[in-house]
Amino acid sequence: MANLYEDAYRQSIEDPEAFWGKVAEDCHWYKKWDKVLDDSDKPIYRWFTGGEMNSCYNALDYHVDERGRGDKIAIIYDSPVTGTIKKYSYAALRDEVAKFAGVLASQGVVRGDRVIVYMPMIPEAAIAMLACARIGAIHSVVFGGFAAKELATRIEDAKPKVIVCASCGIEVKRVIEYKPLLDKAIEISSSKPEKCIVYQRPQATAEMVEGQDIDWDAAMADARPVACVPVAATDPLYILYTSGTTGQPKGVVRDNGGHLVALKWSMKAIYDIGEDDVWWAASDVGWVVGHSYIVYAPLFKGSTSIFFEGKPVGTPDAGVFWRIISEHKVNCMFCAPTAYRAIKREDPAGALIKDYDISSFRILFLAGERSDPDTIQWSENHLNVPVIDNWWQTETGWAIASNCMGLHHFPVKYGSPTKGVPGWDVQVLDSENKKAAPGEIGALVVKLPLPPGTLPTLWQNDDRFVEAYLSEFPGYYKTADAGYIDDEGYVYVMARTDDIINVAGHRLSTGAMEEVLADHPDVAECAVLGVEDKLKGQVPIGFMVLNAGVTRDESDIIKEAVQMVRDRIGPVAAFKTATVVNRLPKTRSGKILRGTIQKIADNKDYSVPATIDDPATLKEMEEALEKVGYAKARS
Ligand code: COA
Ligand code: AMP
Repeated sequence: MANLYEDAYRQSIEDPEAFWGKVAEDCHWYKKWDKVLDDSDKPIYRWFTGGEMNSCYNALDYHVDERGRGDKIAIIYDSPVTGTIKKYSYAALRDEVAKFAGVLASQGVVRGDRVIVYMPMIPEAAIAMLACARIGAIHSVVFGGFAAKELATRIEDAKPKVIVCASCGIEVKRVIEYKPLLDKAIEISSSKPEKCIVYQRPQATAEMVEGQDIDWDAAMADARPVACVPVAATDPLYILYTSGTTGQPKGVVRDNGGHLVALKWSMKAIYDIGEDDVWWAASDVGWVVGHSYIVYAPLFKGSTSIFFEGKPVGTPDAGVFWRIISEHKVNCMFCAPTAYRAIKREDPAGALIKDYDISSFRILFLAGERSDPDTIQWSENHLNVPVIDNWWQTETGWAIASNCMGLHHFPVKYGSPTKGVPGWDVQVLDSENKKAAPGEIGALVVKLPLPPGTLPTLWQNDDRFVEAYLSEFPGYYKTADAGYIDDEGYVYVMARTDDIINVAGHRLSTGAMEEVLADHPDVAECAVLGVEDKLKGQVPIGFMVLNAGVTRDESDIIKEAVQMVRDRIGPVAAFKTATVVNRLPKTRSGKILRGTIQKIADNKDYSVPATIDDPATLKEMEEALEKVGYAKARS
């Protein structure tokens, strides 16, 4: 049966230029594009070349100046950790952003300069991001849960002229001072910003560095608002660093024009959100979900976006999601399944839901990690709304596969994020790079060109971009996820094909953790794997082989190793378990048998690989895992 989804999908694949060219008419352009899709530099594609626009204008001024919607609420900041609720109309937010853009401009920030934003979930983070967009500067937001060293790596790579930070973030049990972490990161990094603009919060006031730091409030008091600057559609809007297969994160670049077009369209087509709706993405501005669906897409659309500073549990309880839905009349929300697992664990019967009127709520979207059927079913039963899985990545910027709720609601199949979204020609390739049959597991890839809004490249590193994503399967983008597509076109995402793991919806590299452990003076060899966890989906666990002759207490070495990962990568890695083993199971050619170790840890059946060097190592691994609470004794 024909439906809106099928028509849109067919056209987007058969004639992407016509499809996206038409979609782009819904956006504000100072100058229309010369070409919708520019393939003159294959395999790197660019969207809307020759076009000029401004992302901040489309997010704010357009609604105020051209649509008479200045009084409409743009952002509702709801912060149970500080007891604050604050609403910004589109006009008020525009005014704040214009002033902060003036602050940046007064510090010499111009089009193309980088600005790092190191802030928690406070509206000032969005103000800083949009202010950069307003003057054509490129923002790079760094998540607060990363350690100083990770921040330093990003400073080193992006070379920001200015860094904007808050004095602290507030977690459930503690206040985290951001400023000392920033000062340390600047000290480590060889690239130094000219200035830091510090937003002081009363929960922990930061010490200011003479000559370097500027107080946000004082600067805003004197600021002169500035207007939006037209930028090229292909100019970068932001860089967002994400875990790669080494300790060196990948600087995912997002351009302005394609991002605007795709994200604005996605609000209605995928999420069924119109300009009068209230939308809530419960993520963090430090992640791609935060960029795309807390800040940009809902504002491009002209709807209201909830800005939540809190956690699904503990701020103050497992009813906070329902309180927010009811108080702000939220229509649809988006979050990681782990948040719902946390709620389900504290309130399995969903008793707290009954305390609130959540009749405004229409759809729950889940993304960031595999949605387990238990969590989907629990949510369906207790909320009585469709629960829709989305598959995407930092690189893609928006959903590759989803039920497109504004186009057509397909029956949900548990374990599948449904079908490729218009624009995404998702395919499965087998080990010989041939198209796999329906149901056959292989590499999930997307036929080029990727739709607008996806990464055109990595920051100042076209070679790494091509090598990491485009070279293994020529003509396709490699997602690094494995899975299959069934005979009805439903996509199933099974596992990563690289060393990335997903911990509470946060993407981390086990390779980066191994680099840290290998630096411990007593460690000869190590492996870090992601093992199943009921709450966080996966958690990392480390195995260390010690240098010959080390006689120190193993528990001290383990404690030091855990602390090293926390200090160098950050608490967000949730690296709490490590163990010492005599040797690691390996193939005869010396490759660590990670897949087999993982199966042992997850209590799954495994067969002894034919290439194993010494089968006895598997028994030793079982014993080591049992000691730390993983793997059951096997007969
Ligand atoms: N700034 C500083 N530290 C942070 C931080 C931030 N923004 N976010 C997390 N951390 C710290 C936490 O305090 C914690 O530290 P600890 O080891 O000292 O306790 C650690 O990083 C791990 O945090 P988190 O992953 O939040 O785990 P948790 O056990 O505190 O909470 C959940 C578990 C499920 C409630 C929580 O992970 C959650 O809400 N997840 C939703 C994830 C999400 O929205 N992901 C976005 C992708 S869509
Ligand atoms: P990130 O870049 O942090 O968004 O992480 C992207 C990775 O998370 C993907 O490559 C997948 O491995 C995983 N992921 C995200 N969404 C889903 C989903 N809906 N189902 C399965 N895996 C997912």
